[in-house]
Amino acid sequence: MDPITNKAIIGHIPAFLELWHKRPIKNNFGGCSSVHALYLYVTIKELGIKYVVESGVWKGQTSWLIEQLIGGPNMVRIEPRSDIVEYNPNGSMDAIGPAFDDFGNIDFPKLNADEWLIFVDDHVDAFTRLIQCKDKGFKHVLFDDNYPAVVEGKSSAKMIKERNELKSLKYYYSQPIGLNASDELIRKDIDKFGTHMEFPPIYSVMGEKTRWNDACGLYPTRQALFSPLSENGEDLWKDRKDYTWPVYFEIRHQ
Ligand SMILES: C[S@@+](CC[C@H](N)C(=O)[O-])C[C@H]1O[C@@H](n2cnc3c(N)ncnc32)[C@H](O)[C@@H]1O
Repeated sequence: MDPITNKAIIGHIPAFLELWHKRPIKNNFGGCSSVHALYLYVTIKELGIKYVVESGVWKGQTSWLIEQLIGGPNMVRIEPRSDIVEYNPNGSMDAIGPAFDDFGNIDFPKLNADEWLIFVDDHVDAFTRLIQCKDKGFKHVLFDDNYPAVVEGKSSAKMIKERNELKSLKYYYSQPIGLNASDELIRKDIDKFGTHMEFPPIYSVMGEKTRWNDACGLYPTRQALFSPLSENGEDLWKDRKDYTWPVYFEIRHQ
């Protein structure tokens, strides 16, 4: 059974939308839409998360959301660019701009892995992030972006799942990181590495075009929570054509 059920997701939607309407950044183009923010919200709530590492801050919209749920002092934020960050939670530990260091280089104190979520929204190689999370003893990892293999230049958990070839990374703000032996192991044996769950689309969008102007339904995804006719929140409806449904990993430590 999935660690987070459809019933649980649907149950969180009304409270999420109430909070989301208060978000400080109205135009978050380049960052999380309502759908992705909902899944961050649901993951933190359902897993009882107390501490979050956010890798990839952009304007700070998801920083704000995380702060609402666990409080600023309980989050670590990592972002190479200080010029774009607009929202700063009270008391967060920031590795931003001149203080930036990549997640892989940061030493985290001994921790209770059950309480921590690594929220990866930095467009760095997903294989590499998983290995780093495992090495650092983390258990819960949420990848915001989860591109299908056919989208050129981005490495994602979906590619791992589908066992597709890793494309070279060309995304303008990411550092290319190559495959190594352990990446290969993970790719071949992803189910032994841990469990993973791709979140479902909120609305069925068959017959429509995605925001990349290709056909929705072209890429394998789960069945949507709602049919096209059942609206359940203006923002979730507006953002329904994302198809990079976030994916949650629970890393198994032997
Ligand atoms: C999609 S945006 C993050 C969106 C954000 N979570 C939000 O509120 O919607 C990706 C961010 O990752 C940052 N980034 C790029 N390389 C990174 C790295 N190695 N570590 C952390 N962040 C990185 C980019 O500068 C950019 O701000």
